[in-house]
Amino acid sequence: MIKLTFVQADGTEIGTEAAPGLSLMQAAVNAGVEAIAAECGGACACGTCHCVLPQKWFDRTPAPQDDEVDMLEFVIEPQSTSRLSCQVVVTEEMHGMVINVPDSQV
Ligand code: FES
Repeated sequence: MIKLTFVQADGTEIGTEAAPGLSLMQAAVNAGVEAIAAECGGACACGTCHCVLPQKWFDRTPAPQDDEVDMLEFVIEPQSTSRLSCQVVVTEEMHGMVINVPDSQV
């Protein structure tokens, strides 16, 4: 299992463990991270699973596909290390990853 920590906008942390192959979005929802609304269920069509990765973790994550890049233009306050959590697949290399969650998705 891969250890992940979701840091909410108020600074509180929600730690969880996820199996490789799960998406970060699924891991967040399973852990009760309410700020990850994931309204489209992971279809890369809503942008409500937006998260921001610390640079070191962003660099270790496979680059986003074009449809994710397009959708990231519509999230609130996108950052240079923003990702749609539904498009990031958990791998062994992500053990210990920290994921920052925005205050609002809409
Ligand atoms: S859950 Fe809708 S874009 Fe990720």
